Amino acid sequence: MNRREIRKKRLLTRRRQKGLGILLIGTLIVSLAGYQIWRNIPQVETLPGPDNLDLGMRVYIDTCASCHGTQGEGHLAIAEAPALNGNEHSWHHPDGQIQRVIQNGGQKMPPFGDQLTDAEITATIRYIQTWWSADQLASQQSRSLQDPIR
Ligand code: HEC
Repeated sequence: MNRREIRKKRLLTRRRQKGLGILLIGTLIVSLAGYQIWRNIPQVETLPGPDNLDLGMRVYIDTCASCHGTQGEGHLAIAEAPALNGNEHSWHHPDGQIQRVIQNGGQKMPPFGDQLTDAEITATIRYIQTWWSADQLASQQSRSLQDPIR
């Protein structure tokens, strides 16, 4: 190999190393950006968890049990208040519909939208869901995909 060839070879190796470096930095940037985006996607909170169950139980006992019963058996202070446990059809309603009933009330049920925070309403729904069988919950959850809590 003469000098010219050696210089050419070195130049090529340097270029290749530079290219590899850029590729590595690029991959790093794309991964970091992807991670940031993934972190910022709101995690859909679906099933009962220990924290919100505790909150949900407190809200339910304070706000709902007088009509719907401590075990969701229904028909207490207002006879028309349906059971919220698995015995009647509360579990047929998707999450979004239950949220709207709690916020806006019904013909006889008072609205609670001004009184309860979004987190309290969600927690209360999660608490009610603990009374449903696994099959009832699964079918209600699949219907909630079309009408989730908003
Ligand atoms: C003053 C009595 C009363 C209180 C308090 C009350 N509800 Fe109701 N609720 C009713 C009545 C009555 C209905 C039936 C619809 C109507 O006539 O308004 C109902 C309907 C519902 C339904 C629809 C169930 C179905 O099967 O269609 C849900 C869910 C519900 N209530 C949840 C709640 C929750 C959660 C709370 C507490 C935040 C609550 N309710 C507080 C009286 C009450």
